[in-house]
Amino acid sequence: MACKQAAKFFPVLKTPALPPGSMQGKFALVTGGGTGLGRAMATTLSHLGATVAIAGRRTEVLERTATDIHNETKGKVFPVKMDVRDPEIVEKSVDAIESEFGRLPNIVINNAAGNFIMASERLSPNAVRTVVDIVLFGTVNVTTEIGRRVINQNKDGCSFLSISTPYARSGGPFVLPSAMSKAGVENMTKTLSAEWAKYGMRFNVIAPGPIPTEGAFGRLSNMTMEETVHMLSKTVSVGRCGEPEEIANLAAYMCSDYASWLNGAIIDFDGGQQFLNHGSSFGDFLQKVPSGEWAKIEELIRSRTGKSKSK
Ligand code: HXC
Ligand code: NAP
Repeated sequence: MACKQAAKFFPVLKTPALPPGSMQGKFALVTGGGTGLGRAMATTLSHLGATVAIAGRRTEVLERTATDIHNETKGKVFPVKMDVRDPEIVEKSVDAIESEFGRLPNIVINNAAGNFIMASERLSPNAVRTVVDIVLFGTVNVTTEIGRRVINQNKDGCSFLSISTPYARSGGPFVLPSAMSKAGVENMTKTLSAEWAKYGMRFNVIAPGPIPTEGAFGRLSNMTMEETVHMLSKTVSVGRCGEPEEIANLAAYMCSDYASWLNGAIIDFDGGQQFLNHGSSFGDFLQKVPSGEWAKIEELIRSRTGKSKSK
């Protein structure tokens, strides 16, 4: 367990780290940009002068976030309804983006994801497919759709960043479909970093540890957000969870021209969590749940996400 006092040595700085205007002339597409970490990354890019498109399935969430970011940064932020699982929808959405803006994004952040924290033996084939479709195929759909167009236009390059997690490599007990999919995303990154750099594209990954968001902490497990933050802080060497603005600053740097030599990199951003007692976010804690308890936990989680089996 981490010493809680460690946190006092590691301040949280939330303001953009790059110089003002560093993203002037950039056009960024952030999938899952309506909430959580995607929203934070979109906000920082906008603060730095980028035009930003945020994509997701829920129009009202995207519109609200676009307005909030614009009010905060005065930058241009556009909601794009796009389900990354469907390659035809992705193609049409990228068509719409190109005709609206007259250009392709030169920054793409693959951040959209879905995840269930659940004992693997309780996952139906459709539950597994649902997560793999969003996380792995969704990322590949967006990346190849935009990548093909960048190659054909032979004009500007593009910096791709995908959000993974360290359990993509260590294995992720109780998050099997997410762990498998993120492993694939990391492999895609390495593969394309070699194959497509000649077209002006580079590919990198941030693999964050626990950073409180409603999506990850509030809806995934049977604990409250506060309980989750408290429990996970103890698994992190620096004694606290990360903050959305911290990953946003790293993402902005990695996508910026300051990092144009960074390609094929997978950067773990987890406060050293993975090296402390082999800490995985939920693994140690959930191993202690008796198998008979999982039905109760599943019912509670499903009641929170409105996905009750009885509906
Ligand atoms: C097991 C479940 C389930 C649960 C649904 N299913 N909830 N199985 N445990 N809690 C099953 C359903 O019964 C169904 O299978 C299948 O999964 C598809 O369910 P749908 O509800 O139709 O899926 P959909 O509406 O597409 O929504 C999927 C989703 C959503 C996007 C994953 O559940 C969601 O919004 N999740 C929470 C937000 C989230 O995942 N945030 C991101 C990631 S955080 P059957 O067989 O019945 O048809 C992250 C990092 C974690 O990744 C790090 C932790 C620190
Ligand atoms: P989140 O708020 O739940 O973000 C997920 C986003 O993905 C939502 O905006 C959601 O919007 C979008 N999305 C889901 N399915 C989609 C689909 N089919 N098409 C398009 N968009 C879709 O959770 P988060 O914590 O910010 O997670 C962001 C990223 O960080 C994810 O890749 C996650 O795996 C990763 N991560 C997070 C943590 C953490 O501790 N927070 C740790 C490790 C990794 P809609 O529902 O409107 O579509």
